Formats: sequence, C-alpha cells, structure tokens
Amino acid sequence: MNAALKDSIRRPSDSRESILLTGGTGLLGSYLVRDLLLAGRSLALIVRRDRKRSPESRVDAVVRQWEDATDTELPRPVVLAGDLTKPLCGLDEESRAWVRWNCSTLLNNAASLTFRGSDPQAEPWLTNVAGTQHVLDLAHDTEIEHFHHVSTAYVCGLRSGRVAEQDLDQGQEFGNDYERSKVEAEKRVREADHLATATVYRPSIIVGDSRTGYTSTYHGFFAGLRLGHTLLTRVVKGSTSGPALLSLLGVNQSDRKNFVPVDWVSAMIAHAVQTPEARGRTLHLTHPDPLSMHTVGSVIQEAVETFSDAASPDDPDLCDEEWFADNLRSQLDVYQSYFRNDPDFDRHNTISVAGHIPCPALDRQTLLRMSRFAIETDFGRRSHSPPKTAGVAAV
Ligand SMILES: NC(=O)c1ccc[n+]([C@@H]2O[C@H](COP(=O)([O-])OP(=O)(O)OC[C@H]3O[C@@H](n4cnc5c(N)ncnc54)[C@H](OP(=O)(O)O)[C@@H]3O)[C@@H](O)[C@H]2O)c1
Repeated sequence: MNAALKDSIRRPSDSRESILLTGGTGLLGSYLVRDLLLAGRSLALIVRRDRKRSPESRVDAVVRQWEDATDTELPRPVVLAGDLTKPLCGLDEESRAWVRWNCSTLLNNAASLTFRGSDPQAEPWLTNVAGTQHVLDLAHDTEIEHFHHVSTAYVCGLRSGRVAEQDLDQGQEFGNDYERSKVEAEKRVREADHLATATVYRPSIIVGDSRTGYTSTYHGFFAGLRLGHTLLTRVVKGSTSGPALLSLLGVNQSDRKNFVPVDWVSAMIAHAVQTPEARGRTLHLTHPDPLSMHTVGSVIQEAVETFSDAASPDDPDLCDEEWFADNLRSQLDVYQSYFRNDPDFDRHNTISVAGHIPCPALDRQTLLRMSRFAIETDFGRRSHSPPKTAGVAAV
C-alpha cells in the first residue's frame, strides 16, 4: 500500500470523491489517467505487478510520461495492488476500507483483448467475465454507487443494419470469443442491482492519438500495417500494393470499418464519468464517418512505402510473394471476423451526453502520423513515450 493510501485511511475524507480505475496501465487507461488527473480528479488505481515492476512503479511511470508530455506536474494516484482474476480483485481489508471511505465511483476499463479461447478458466473469460464479476463484488463490498464499464461496440457480433445503444443480446452470431466475453460482462453489469447507476461505454476499434500518432498497443489497423511493413522488408518493393493486399485477404474494398482515436475515446469517457446526466446510459463511442477498406489499404501502402526500409533485391532473406501471402493469411486469420462491413452504430446517447466533443477526422494525414509512430517504434519493440502534446484541455 502506498503512503498516500496509509495517510488517508487514518483521515477519512468528508466526501467520497476519488474515482477507482482498473486497467490504468493500458492504452486507453493511461489516457484516462491523464485526462482525469488534468481535470483535477483524485484517482485510485487497481494494478497488478508485471515481470519487473511493482504496481506503484508502473503507475509512477504512467504519470511521469504524461508529466513529460504535457509539461504539467500531476498528483500521484493511490495505488491498490490487485488482479481482476481474484475474488474482490485481491484487495486486502485495508485497501477495501480505503475504497469504502474515499470512492463512490468505479471505472472498470481493464480487459483481456485475447480474441480466441473457449476455456472459461483462461483468457479472455478470466478477466472479462469472472474479472468483471469480481469488480462488481468489490463495488458491492465497498458501497460503490456509480459503476462505469468499458465494453466494445462489437458486442453486436456479426449483426448488420442499425444497432441501437440499448441493444445487447439479440441472439446474434459472434466473430470471436472476445466479443462473447464482453457481452457476458455487460450482462453482469446490467444485472447488478446493488448499484445506483451503471454506465456502459462501447468504443469501436481504437487507434492511436489523433494529434501525436502515439499508441502502445498494436491491434486492428496496426496489425494490418505491421504486415504491410513486413511485406516491404521481405519482398521487393512494388511487387504488391495495398489494394492487392486486401484482395489477397478477401476484403471487399467498399466495406467500411469504424476506427476511433484513443484521445477522443478517453475525453468522452472522462467527461461522461463526471457528468451526472450520463449515468445509467450506454454510449456508442464510434466514429460518425467510418473509413472504407480501400482507404485503409491505400494508407497502409503509402505508410510502408514512405516510412519502412524496403528490402534490397540482393537480400539473401528475400521472400517471394507466395510465401508472404501464406503468412499474411495465417497471421490475420484472428482478425477475419473484422473483414466485413460494420453495422450502423446508433449514437443518440453519445451525442446527447457529449456532442460538444467532436470525434477528430481520421484523414490520410492523421492515419499516416499514427503509422509513422508505429513503424518508427518498431511496433512497440523500441521504447517510446507519448510525444509532447501542447494544450491538452481538461474535460
Ligand atoms: N483496443 C481496442 O481497439 C478496443 C476497442 C473497443 C473496446 N476496447 C476496450 O477498452 C478497454 C481498454 O482496452 P485497451 O485497448 O486500452 O487494452 P490494453 O492496452 O491491452 O490494456 C488493458 C488493461 O487491462 C489491464 N488488465 C488486463 N487483465 C487484468 C487483470 N487480470 N487484472 C488487472 N488488470 C488487468 C492491463 O493491465 P496490465 O498492464 O497489467 O496487463 C491493462 O492495464 C478494454 O475494456 C477493451 O475491451 C478496446
């Protein structure tokens, strides 16, 4: 337990103003930490150890990177060592007493983004379903009133047409186990009648920062980019193209996919968490103007041809296109369910709660900036922090 926690457990605050957050070390979670701290909210984070660092040093690293990026001194959140896969998230008696005294709001953002796995004793089920139940039990135990839960727009599974924000289980088919697990999690949240309110956020596919291109995870768009990058560094430049790549994968170029920048998703959630009128609603945090797969393919092509080092024809490791096509298909197989037209996500609640925070356009220049960041940091293999971001406003 960190010093701030020990201190405040002896001196309980008058009001329970701290927000308890899970998943603060991940991509979206680190932006939520930044935006909520900049808005002057006091935070407590449930964080597990990683292989090398304690929960405290992991949280310190997240806050320090934002201090550097924003040139602003930020307060340190209270750190509660815990893991969603354990009952009551593994929080000891003292930590739970602190939560009871100091928090009336919990923002459950942690999840496993493992797409495949049917064993309920393994991911994504352990964290997403059993874990969500443990967070709900913790909320009950600590008398949390307002529960906020980060889900995904793809709880709609393989539905087409218009998907309303209140829809959940409509008997739809699913593309993968991750989607199924997120539906189960949302059901548990909706059934938790000990809560005063439960608010659900459903982002579509999260990409990097619209201003700086920063990202720390490389799913979705970045998985396609990484394969384009590998292609260029293993086969001769010009031997294939973005659109050719898409047809190789059986992607229809006129299909549209819904991508959203991480800074916008965070700004929307940070605003809604602090807005009583948002409570109890479900918000589709989706882009009003989805991208065509043709645009995605041609941006990937331009990005790798501009930022990746092309293979030399004399390279002994050079591969032929057939080798690449086979690899491409097997590596992108896990994303197969996403190679289709997205449904039309209703945004009624989203607009009514935070219509004044417009979703940045994902134009060519913005996508190229994100691609450049990913390629220059070798898709996370080179250490990287968020670049300087001048003028990030409190939400
Ligand atoms: N990325 C997308 O495209 C996307 C789209 C729609 C919705 N979402 C949702 O947005 C949320 C954040 O996703 P993200 O992209 O930011 O994911 P991410 O970068 O992979 O972060 C996941 C976070 O959850 C934490 N976590 C996972 N399992 C845990 C456990 N058992 N106990 C404690 N903490 C645990 C991770 O902690 P460690 O650092 O210790 O691993 C990390 O902080 C998730 O709920 C996800 O389902 C994401």
